[in-house]
Amino acid sequence: MTVATRLDLPPFTRLRRLRNTPALRRMVRETQLSPADFIAPFFVTHGRGVRQPVSSMPGVFQLSVDELVREVRTLGPLGVPAVLLFGLPASKDALGSEAYARDGIVQQAVAAIKDATPETVVVTDVCLCEYTDHGHCGVIEGDRVLNDPTLDLLARMALTHVEAGADIVAPSDMMDGHVAALRVALDAAGHEQTPILGYSAKFASAFYGPFREAAESAPRFGDRRSYQMDPANGREALREVQADIDEGVDIVMVKPALSYLDVIRAVRDRFDFPIAAYNVSGEYAMVKAAAANGWLDERAVALEILTSIKRAGADLIITYHAADAARWLSA
Ligand code: PBG
Repeated sequence: MTVATRLDLPPFTRLRRLRNTPALRRMVRETQLSPADFIAPFFVTHGRGVRQPVSSMPGVFQLSVDELVREVRTLGPLGVPAVLLFGLPASKDALGSEAYARDGIVQQAVAAIKDATPETVVVTDVCLCEYTDHGHCGVIEGDRVLNDPTLDLLARMALTHVEAGADIVAPSDMMDGHVAALRVALDAAGHEQTPILGYSAKFASAFYGPFREAAESAPRFGDRRSYQMDPANGREALREVQADIDEGVDIVMVKPALSYLDVIRAVRDRFDFPIAAYNVSGEYAMVKAAAANGWLDERAVALEILTSIKRAGADLIITYHAADAARWLSA
């Protein structure tokens, strides 16, 4: 066998030179993942001492407020600055009343976290689907989800969250005009400094399946395709982001993350707003299931996925892997 000499070859570039040692690779690494990028989601439920596992999301629990506070206390030392709260109400009704009750479960959880660890940035999800008996994200008439009547309820919900101490409100309902409705209500009550994180480009995704078990929020009839986006539409995602910006949003979101990395990149290229990406329940469940079977290395795959989301252009990543990933990054 003969070995080719340089003389036999056209000129070529030696990209491997900078891959030869860990130190060199670190020096030229383009994307740095940090625990400061993460927002950890939690599901809070009534009761005391409750840690109810979510079967499709190993490592995720429905937590009562006391247990939630214990979990949240561990995040600060790991460098994870923020949490995102979802609530499981004591009872559901057509208008999702507990969503905007002053003593609702999320309102209680916000107050308890801000009391225990005031430095934690508490973000609350603003949407009716966990609270309505029909499981849709807004007020219904027949089988239609009504836009404008829903806005008033969302605004009331956001206001009660902020009055309980929430630092950021995050409307995920996909009603048109929702950012404007929240902004007007918050400003009128003197909360003009509270930022809004808009779920701007939220797609009607099958990757939300495990979340709907965790949040007990599956629609009782139909689906969410009349308000959430068609997964086929990338350009429309930019119009959704523009609409939220026009209404005064502070941070925009693309959700889900992994099948929508092109959308994250397009938003990054077009807009100079902070971008959050939601590494959703189905993305987490797939990694957990494969790892449990010994088919994938959970740590390596999760960090690779999170890095890809950051590389695509996200500044913030909402992820159920937040605490583990923070541990892995500091190990
Ligand atoms: C509520 C909401 C959903 C998610 C976040 N907020 C579910 C849905 O729209 O059906 C999904 C998050 C996840 O899958 O991790 N509207």
